[in-house]
Amino acid sequence: MFGKFIREHKWKYISGILFLFAVNLLQLITPKITGTVIDGVNDGTIIESTLIKYSMLILLIAIGVFVLNFLARLQINGSSNLYEFVLRNKMFEHLLEMSMKFYNERTVGDIMALSTNDMGALRMAISRGIMIMADTVFLLIASIYIMSSQINLRLTLIAFIPMPFMVFIMLRFGKLIHRRFRRVQESFADMTQKTQENISGIRVIKAFVQEEFEIDNFRSLNKRDYDRNMALVRIRGVFFPLISFISSISYLLVLVYGGYLVIDGTISLGDFVAFNTYLGMLVWPIASIGRIINLVQRGKASIDRIGNILDEEADIYDDPAIPKDFEPKKFRGKIEFRNVTFAYEEGGEPVLKDINLKVDPGETLAVVGRVGSGKSTFANLILRLYNPKNKGEIFIDDIDIMDIPLKVLRDNVGFVSQDNFLFSISIRDNIAFIPEGISDGKVLEAAKLSQLYNEIEDLPEGFDTLLGERGVNLSGGQRQRTSIARALAKDPTILILDDSLSAVDTDTEERILEGLNTFMNNRTSIIIAHRISTIKDADKIVVLDEGRIVEEGSHEELVTQKGIYAEMYERQLLEEEIAKA
Ligand SMILES: Nc1ncnc2c1ncn2[C@@H]1O[C@H](COP(=O)(O)OP(=O)(O)OP(=O)(O)O)[C@@H](O)[C@H]1O
Ligand SMILES: [Mg+2]
Repeated sequence: MFGKFIREHKWKYISGILFLFAVNLLQLITPKITGTVIDGVNDGTIIESTLIKYSMLILLIAIGVFVLNFLARLQINGSSNLYEFVLRNKMFEHLLEMSMKFYNERTVGDIMALSTNDMGALRMAISRGIMIMADTVFLLIASIYIMSSQINLRLTLIAFIPMPFMVFIMLRFGKLIHRRFRRVQESFADMTQKTQENISGIRVIKAFVQEEFEIDNFRSLNKRDYDRNMALVRIRGVFFPLISFISSISYLLVLVYGGYLVIDGTISLGDFVAFNTYLGMLVWPIASIGRIINLVQRGKASIDRIGNILDEEADIYDDPAIPKDFEPKKFRGKIEFRNVTFAYEEGGEPVLKDINLKVDPGETLAVVGRVGSGKSTFANLILRLYNPKNKGEIFIDDIDIMDIPLKVLRDNVGFVSQDNFLFSISIRDNIAFIPEGISDGKVLEAAKLSQLYNEIEDLPEGFDTLLGERGVNLSGGQRQRTSIARALAKDPTILILDDSLSAVDTDTEERILEGLNTFMNNRTSIIIAHRISTIKDADKIVVLDEGRIVEEGSHEELVTQKGIYAEMYERQLLEEEIAKA
């Protein structure tokens, strides 16, 4: 992934690096000029006009350095930004392709850290990292060459005596810094996750008066992050002064031996000054070997993490054997479960057991059962949000859903999920939530069917009202009905309502069901509910208990069976009577 990008944009990098080389080359000329001028002044051979010529040269070099530096940065930083841009798109695309299983295994904080910390570290590695690396390599080679061959070999060797220590320290510290940096990143991710969760769950926190507890929680996470940052600060705090200290020793050695060489007449004063300038130019790049190591290691760790996510294959995808022009695009809506046993984790306790079931086109199937009995799981499997992989098959129109393109399958299903998630866009856009868009007429019709229309029309901005953070909050019942409208508007063959009428009163429920009656005439519907009133008119009712179908039949049949269903029904009748009384 990274290699491919570099290959595609190699000319940008190569030209950027060449510009950097040119910058360094020009910078290396200046000390030599200064040296020459000093010697000229010293022995009185320099005249005013040559002095002006030299100053002009230095000015020209400065301008050249400025322009070339700009170009180098443009090429290299430009490429790294482009890479980040490409990678972000790829990452987002990939994230949306991943199945529910992927999201169950990770926290939002972990995923968000990828696109903040890791992307940033990666960009630094391939922009600043590459630039410092090119600078260092070139400056080291070129200035050592000039110092040793043009000025004095022995002085150069003496100046370099402390350098192995410097390299040793840098390698040592590089590892430590890297390790501590990783720990900072981890604690930062935890803290982000905590913040995010608290903000989304602010209502619950307030209702349960958990503010103090959560603040304490956050404090300890923040403290851990702070401590880890401090550990990093400490090690860096030792590192940089240590490098300065070692370079001072180098200067000291040059001052002593170089001074001696000048007195001795082996080198000129100008050469001595130039030598010191070169040494000054070198300390920084040598010290940055550590920084390079640091940047590259951070970048490497980040690209590994990003790569791990990108390499993770979606476990839900179209079988390559499925023809591109799969037909039919529109189903009639027959659904069949054959011996389906399903567990969320491999080898785990099945959540659905031996489900056998047939729903004919146009029929309404109701699914009831205690909380956690597997109703939502049943719905998720029809949409292939999880693969029905453990045992058994699911068929739609007698085709195994594993042999149906996901797009075709999901296009045919109108799904109202239990969480009724709505996006922070207008109500209209929430309802017309398919790529092709949906005509206004259809949006309004769907809103009318789900008994939402009047309430929305009463809002000042009607269907253009924005939802969410920057807009209004709908009531629970309104949210449910908006989700229903969203499912209806896409004109599905199969409609699945997962506990979608729980937040509306029984009158509204009745009206919605009545409206749906005509809408669903030639479509199949699956209604999951806790309230018997919601489902008593269904063609077929199944009762799930601990993942098994324990009762099956029409309302009348089930009531006479005197099982779980009859019990639920009687209890609810009783509740209704109490409510009326
Ligand atoms: N993503 C998941 N990973 C692991 N286990 C899960 C997952 N989702 C649900 N379960 C488990 O599967 C079982 C069935 O859950 P499911 O959501 O299907 O129940 P349900 O009948 O829809 O319940 P409710 O009436 O509360 O909506 C539960 O024991 C639940 O803990
Ligand atoms: Mg459920």
